Amino acid sequence: MYKILKAEKLADMIYLMDVEAPRVARHCMPGQFVIVKMDEKGERIPLTICDYDREAGTITIVFQTVGASTHKMATLKAGDSFRDFTGPLGCPSELVEEDLDTLKKKKILFVGGGVGAAPVYPQVKWMHEHGIDVDVIIGSKTKDMLLLEEEMKAVAGNYYPCTDDGTYGHAGMVTSMIEELHAQGNRYDVCVAIGPMIMMKFVCLLTKKLEIPTIVSMNPIMVDGTGMCGACRLHVGDEIKFACVDGPEFDGHLVNFDEAMKRQQMYKTQEGRAMLKLQE
Ligand code: FES
Repeated sequence: MYKILKAEKLADMIYLMDVEAPRVARHCMPGQFVIVKMDEKGERIPLTICDYDREAGTITIVFQTVGASTHKMATLKAGDSFRDFTGPLGCPSELVEEDLDTLKKKKILFVGGGVGAAPVYPQVKWMHEHGIDVDVIIGSKTKDMLLLEEEMKAVAGNYYPCTDDGTYGHAGMVTSMIEELHAQGNRYDVCVAIGPMIMMKFVCLLTKKLEIPTIVSMNPIMVDGTGMCGACRLHVGDEIKFACVDGPEFDGHLVNFDEAMKRQQMYKTQEGRAMLKLQE
């Protein structure tokens, strides 16, 4: 059993938990994820690691309530436990695996949308700890939905919050902030975009035009998380990849987002039935 040490509501429908998982905390790297299960018959839920404390043996996860299982998960409190907490899964972020001297010469832009700010955070923190200042754009619908703002400010070189409704920071989508930074003369060697698929798609369309190589972190439906079931397959260029073992990061300019979004829609009806059951 994996004990929840802290459970906090960060924003509407968005929750943070610190979970005691020493083995995962010892081995994980930014970019990797875990699959959690609340009980024996529970759904396997993939969640990107938002932070880790190797000494305390804890992992921080951030999740949004999107379906029946995550709604149930949001009711868990400090002191409750997860039945399974499997990880670290997937490959570490491509950038943290790069040669440090090469990395230090690069101008890097991170873009997080909505709950995507959570997986962006450990990468930006890792960069900061290794003496690399990066630019960070975080977008949300409103100011109240902006996640981990203080934490992000503490580790980002430059931090650019954006809100769709213009209540805070740059008024508009993350893509218009990228355009503005480009117009100001910023030239990036690489962009990392993490968030809803539709956001990653439009960031990639723009960065392709601006000729900025872009890494995205894909979050398709996952079942086993070990490359066996095929649930998380997606087209990257001419190849079929499994997000759980080949990713979750891929070259954003090669990902077939339309197909990936269509696959995600397939599960909506099934999810609706599960939600009704939860309300019974
Ligand atoms: Fe089953 Fe990736 S989740 S192959």
